[in-house]
Amino acid sequence: MSRDIRPTRRAVTESSVGVPGADAANPVVTLSDNVVTLRPWSRDDAGFMAGAYADPAIRRYNGVLDRLGRPAPPLSIMDAEAVIDEFALNWRAFATTETPSGVAFAIMDARSGDLVGCCGVDDWSKADVAQVGYWIAASARGRGYATRALILLTRWLFELGAARVVLTIVAENKASVAVARRAGFVYEGTMRSHGVWQGRRCDVMWFAALPLEWTRRGPDEPGRREDAP
Ligand SMILES: CC(C)(COP(=O)(O)OP(=O)(O)OC[C@H]1O[C@@H](n2cnc3c(N)ncnc32)[C@H](O)[C@@H]1OP(=O)(O)O)[C@@H](O)C(=O)NCCC(=O)NCCS
Repeated sequence: MSRDIRPTRRAVTESSVGVPGADAANPVVTLSDNVVTLRPWSRDDAGFMAGAYADPAIRRYNGVLDRLGRPAPPLSIMDAEAVIDEFALNWRAFATTETPSGVAFAIMDARSGDLVGCCGVDDWSKADVAQVGYWIAASARGRGYATRALILLTRWLFELGAARVVLTIVAENKASVAVARRAGFVYEGTMRSHGVWQGRRCDVMWFAALPLEWTRRGPDEPGRREDAP
């Protein structure tokens, strides 16, 4: 297993250089390609998060659903603050466990500094499989932010020793399928009737990236996989 080769400490320290309040127990990881910057959420971002979460697509594809596939109510500012507090706890746990389970980044436009979305690690399994997710505020979609953020996140997870990075996407979510493909993820199959939305069953697609394959193929060339429907 790859745990012994993870450069976690070094990555955290480098990412935290010059960041006020950052230390070994409170890592502040920032990742950037000079177009988007990923940084931890701050409580000051709660208004943006609550506003973005009012969007029906985010509530459907990223929010909590009940057994019949009905979305939870929109987030209040206080709810958003609680979510951000939980992310902060998970970042602190990461400093000890060296596995970034439940951490999330705010996605910013690197030039303007405007917040545009969120991406993060839903789970890091004992077998070093990282499951990730993302959303972009409705007004900022279609400008490549999600693809860039997913590439930055995936590269970071491989640096930390992930053996596999996976994404599950509701089959009818064409925009997200396009992001996964564009970011170099490989379609692995469809779990039929795996999800439910407003009482109707729906299929869920699996995508994954493996470190050597992803690096060798290059993550940013679109349309490299012909086996997906
Ligand atoms: C999925 C989502 C994150 C994409 O964000 P984005 O910033 O528009 O993503 P990008 O600009 O990086 O890429 C979007 C790609 O999808 C394509 N696309 C957008 N809408 C599409 C649609 N309805 N059908 C097919 N392709 C679509 C774009 O053309 C682009 O592909 P290209 O770069 O090859 O042209 C955004 O739509 C979103 O937040 N949706 C709601 C929440 C969600 O679905 N989260 C993901 C859960 S798995």
